[in-house]
Amino acid sequence: MNKKNVNKTPELSVKVYKQVSLTGERMRRAADANLLLKFRVFLRDRPGSLAAFSSLIADCCGNISFFHYDRSVDSSRVVVEVRMNGQHDLDSLLMAMKAKKYAFERVAGVKDEVEITTPANILEIKVRLVNRPGTLAAFARLLKKHHANVIYMLYDEDIDAESANIAMAVKEPGEIDNLLHAINSEGYYYRVIYRGSGKAEIEHIIGLKLVEKFFIRLRKLLSDSDTKEVKALVESSQELSDDLVQFYAEAGNNLEAADVFEKVLTLASLSRSSVGRRFSAVEMPPLPLGKRVTLFGFRLPTSENIYVFQHDGELTMIDAGYGIYYDDIKKLFKGKKWDLSRIKRIFITHADADHAGTSGYFADEFGTQVFMHHAGKDVIAGDNRSFGHTGKLSKLNKYYTRLVNRFTNCRFPRKARYFRSSVLGSAGAFNVIDRVLIGDLQFEVLESRGGHVPGNVFFLNREYGLLFTADYLLNIKSLTEEDRNALNVYKYLLISPNSNGPLFKEEMAALQELVKEIDAKVKKQGRSALIFPGHGEYYPLEQAR
Ligand SMILES: [Fe+2]
Ligand SMILES: [Fe+2]
Repeated sequence: MNKKNVNKTPELSVKVYKQVSLTGERMRRAADANLLLKFRVFLRDRPGSLAAFSSLIADCCGNISFFHYDRSVDSSRVVVEVRMNGQHDLDSLLMAMKAKKYAFERVAGVKDEVEITTPANILEIKVRLVNRPGTLAAFARLLKKHHANVIYMLYDEDIDAESANIAMAVKEPGEIDNLLHAINSEGYYYRVIYRGSGKAEIEHIIGLKLVEKFFIRLRKLLSDSDTKEVKALVESSQELSDDLVQFYAEAGNNLEAADVFEKVLTLASLSRSSVGRRFSAVEMPPLPLGKRVTLFGFRLPTSENIYVFQHDGELTMIDAGYGIYYDDIKKLFKGKKWDLSRIKRIFITHADADHAGTSGYFADEFGTQVFMHHAGKDVIAGDNRSFGHTGKLSKLNKYYTRLVNRFTNCRFPRKARYFRSSVLGSAGAFNVIDRVLIGDLQFEVLESRGGHVPGNVFFLNREYGLLFTADYLLNIKSLTEEDRNALNVYKYLLISPNSNGPLFKEEMAALQELVKEIDAKVKKQGRSALIFPGHGEYYPLEQAR
């Protein structure tokens, strides 16, 4: 378009262009519409905002030639171009906008609300709108009458002068039929692109905020009331809702990783509705180890394991589950007739909430000593599982850590104990940094090289060939088909949020090598090496994939 910027009113951020040389159709238009305004304006995200704004433009004889609003990108910003009949109309529009206090800059402190938690209330149409002043205003008023909130709109005269794409959210799914009926009877031509009852994936629904998409996905896993509970939790804390918004802001920069993070976050949310009467744990076959030790393993509702060694009148745990399960875990242990005050030590493989979440509760109530790698201290203090990393996933990791920890009521011990950090030897590709005794079993503490999270350790007993691998070498096969299908989430634990993907894979291979080596040795005593993963049942090397 041949335009020349002749005036800019800085305080209103409105660019005004004047048509200076035109031919044909545009020459004809130039006679009665020689100004083109381009500006962005910040509207309230609620039904009627668009109607009020477009009516104001129509009242000043402005004709909208471009209009873009996408609530998923910004819930208040509208970019608009308006053609006007000369300076007089322009002045009256600017005065009217000033009088109505329209904001040309973002209004500070306006909370970004999560309003849509189901796609059932959404309608997207392509509608024919005659290209003349007031058309959009009239259509917007019709939407207002039906309390439809516009969540996306694109009208571009240069692409298609006669139609607009509009997505909107109504209050009840039943309203969609009423609205379409009204649009029809008012004489508008339209085509439905998406309606809530359709099967379109939410990824394809435009205008939804990423945070809303999260809650919609949550509804597929959780009941309505459980989804509401998670939403209420988020809304109860400004910090938490900011974290969720920030998480999704970062997610946009790292789509692939964000997908994995989001699925694990969704899984963590599931823990909230798996407590009390809905809690269930799968007990693995108890394993006698010599005369003094029996090893118990429990898989909690969201797939993570806790291992308990019963020995010498004491209980020693490896990993501790999400904090939200604390009361249920205590009940589970009481059912085994265990005296909980005998839980003297918990060895934590790493400071992720699904492995360490109850450790602080045990420490507070029973004085249990919690042992971890010293780098776990930084992860906990920084509330960031990628502490010390500055890569592109570090911010995503940070918000993810905070969200998961809060969603699952994680409590770390106020005073942890730390493994030694001097190199005492090696086990395969890993340094042995400490040795601990559980009954008469000696475990070497192997230091991960940081592929999953800083301060990750593995525990190795060479005598029986036992290797505790945390989030490495998971036994996905042991999870029920039903679980895997219903949730379609567990598979993501295979590649659970890793600070360093390539290193993680190298470590996986190194652990496999180590198990093979150990297995060859214990075979001589007629045993098989056993892998004790952080998720799924323990398994012998032969079953490893
Ligand atoms: Fe982990
Ligand atoms: Fe885990």
